Amino acid sequence: MPTFDRGKRQFFFLLAAIAAGVFIINIALIGGVDLPKLDSWHHDNGNFEEHAAVNDAHPIASLMKDADAAFNAYEESRSLTFRETVVKYRRRYGRHPPPGFRDWYKFAKDRNVHNIDDFSQIMDDLRPFWGMVPAEIRSLAAHMSENEPRGISGLHIRDKKIWKLTNQNWRVETMATMVEKFVEFLPDMDIAMNRLDQPRVVVPWDDMQKLLTAEQETRRVYPDAAAEWTQNMTGFLNENDTAPVITNPEWYSKPGEQYMLIAKEACPPDSHARNAASKTGSAEALYKEPQGGFVTNFNLSSDLCTIGPEVQGKHGFLFAPSTIVASKRLLPVFGECKVNVNSDILFPANMYYNNDDRYAYDPTYDYDWPDKHDTMIWRGVTSGGTNTADNWKNMHRQRLVLISNGTVMANKEVQILSEDPAKQGTYQGFEHFIPGQFALNHTDVGFTEAFACVPNCNFYDGVWTYKNMTTLSQQFESKFVVDVDGHSFSGRWHAFLESKSLGIKSTIFREWHDSRLFAWRHFVPLDNRYDEIYSILTYFIGIGKQGAKNQPYVPRHDFEGRKLARQGREWAKKVLRSEDTEIYMFRLLIEYARIIDDNRDRIGYSGDGSELDKYDATHPFSPANGGHA
Ligand SMILES: *[C@@H]1O[C@H](CO)[C@@H](O)[C@H](O)[C@H]1NC(C)=O
Ligand SMILES: *[C@@H]1O[C@H](CO)[C@@H](O)[C@H](O)[C@H]1NC(C)=O
Ligand SMILES: *[C@@H]1O[C@H](CO)[C@@H](O)[C@H](O)[C@H]1NC(C)=O
Ligand SMILES: *[C@@H]1O[C@H](CO)[C@@H](O)[C@H](O)[C@H]1NC(C)=O
Ligand SMILES: *[C@@H]1O[C@H](CO)[C@@H](O)[C@H](O)[C@H]1NC(C)=O
Ligand SMILES: *[C@@H]1O[C@H](CO)[C@@H](O)[C@H](O)[C@H]1NC(C)=O
Repeated sequence: MPTFDRGKRQFFFLLAAIAAGVFIINIALIGGVDLPKLDSWHHDNGNFEEHAAVNDAHPIASLMKDADAAFNAYEESRSLTFRETVVKYRRRYGRHPPPGFRDWYKFAKDRNVHNIDDFSQIMDDLRPFWGMVPAEIRSLAAHMSENEPRGISGLHIRDKKIWKLTNQNWRVETMATMVEKFVEFLPDMDIAMNRLDQPRVVVPWDDMQKLLTAEQETRRVYPDAAAEWTQNMTGFLNENDTAPVITNPEWYSKPGEQYMLIAKEACPPDSHARNAASKTGSAEALYKEPQGGFVTNFNLSSDLCTIGPEVQGKHGFLFAPSTIVASKRLLPVFGECKVNVNSDILFPANMYYNNDDRYAYDPTYDYDWPDKHDTMIWRGVTSGGTNTADNWKNMHRQRLVLISNGTVMANKEVQILSEDPAKQGTYQGFEHFIPGQFALNHTDVGFTEAFACVPNCNFYDGVWTYKNMTTLSQQFESKFVVDVDGHSFSGRWHAFLESKSLGIKSTIFREWHDSRLFAWRHFVPLDNRYDEIYSILTYFIGIGKQGAKNQPYVPRHDFEGRKLARQGREWAKKVLRSEDTEIYMFRLLIEYARIIDDNRDRIGYSGDGSELDKYDATHPFSPANGGHA
């Protein structure tokens, strides 16, 4: 069983009050209303959906429409057979699929994979390694875990079994339980896994361009490729190995260094991050809608080369990271999350696989939408970096708690969008909105505990009122669950998506699942500065009275909130299951196995896919389930 050592607990802490027996068995309120109702109200809403779309010119309406279009295109592009899958693979990546691809395909399909093509994150993560010699990758992967303080664990596969784990902890143990499911299909390999919270590898821009060029130049589809791994290669972890071993990952340690100083080296020379003179406004235009400041491109909203200078003083990891052990050298390090400039190889976070009560979805308090409160909730501790009296206002969680505090906001003005009194259904900026009372009515955001302070947390006295702990499930009594980073990514996110509440998401981190989650269809994206948080909340909850002078008015969009929450929930149940993490990991490991294979240019699946025709006929994909309208 994985253990969860105290030292790592700081990692996006959520306080579950299980031990204390605080769970209340709430039979009267939830008795059997979970799944069966979904279909009926889903059906009822058909007409209203169209009606709402026609009348409302709020920017969020068109963002949702765009998201639906992108989502439908995604659904329609899915390969439905092995033949199609391999053709698409070769067209996209200019190579044959790796050996083991057929086994992976069947594994994935037997587990009802929804989109067999959507694994480009893996390809992107591994691309630069085509510029590195396979034996060198193997050596690094074999030996990086030997030096305990460097924060790498090792998982070693031999003869289709997990041979051993090195520098063991709960994280690599969890990874091993996942890999067990398909290890029989894998060749020998060593995997180096990051066991720190923060990502590790930042390759300078010019070096990265050389690596990527090498990848480009080696793309070939050889007619005579064999779908077999090379046997008996040297360089794996083995006490008798005589091959030269490359052991220096060139780690350097920079605790407390502002991360943009490290990160910007990986950005293009003409990027905003490296070119202080370039305009903030033009960077923002790339990912923010001008009227309400809503995020139009969630991917770019966390691109540090684009927006790093604006958010570096607003996020704990960027402003006051607690542990940084990094390298400028490309290293085969598997990590649970990274920022866009990192070259760590993403894999599905152990926390999503671990069934930890603090992060796993639990329906106990996940009432139907109309029975939830009109509130946005958040609970957590002051993690995200090292807290000091001087820096805490630069940390993201602290900023969230401040901006949601009705007392703090009682004398602050923010801009929201308000309906134009002269033209119903159109909106304009309302610049002097004082959100104090609205926040008191509709937010429930606070810390449960101060944490990670130097020299101690006394500087928080009088700043916060610590709130009672809640279980994850108790948070689903609120319609809106906002999710922000901790020390690294937030492990609550899958459960938030799976709930009937609506997830509002802000992060600077990338994860394995990003390309399958559509902002404004499955969740509401929030800029890392939180500028538009009241525009978002007043849109869904509504505020004011139509026609009132000098007061903002936003009609309530409860239906839209409910619809996004429902779409997120249905989708999470399709693409964020434990099976989906296994499928991702299996695919990742066959792609990785090819990268470390001495004959990687020459091996691969070169068939036309016809040998699975029969299998495909008896295992059809579920029909595309694009628009519900
Ligand atoms: C690999 O090594 C094993 C045992 O040392 C040997 O039996 C086998 O023939 C070798 N395979 C290849 C492809 O060289
Ligand atoms: C290393 O070599 C020794 C002596 O030949 C042998 O006993 C041992 O099994 C070998 N270890 C491995 C991992 O191959
Ligand atoms: C806050 O709630 C009170 C009591 O329900 C209500 O009268 C008031 O209009 C609300 N104000 C805002 C801004 O939501
Ligand atoms: C909100 O701010 C007020 C004033 O600074 C403070 O007294 C209160 O404890 C804060 N509330 C929370 C939940 O932190
Ligand atoms: C918080 O917990 C304490 C102790 O269990 C309880 O007395 C108090 O009523 C709780 N407060 C809230 C707001 O639920
Ligand atoms: C995010 O943007 C980068 C660079 O623009 C691109 O390479 C990547 O594929 C995008 N990722 C997703 C999930 O859209």
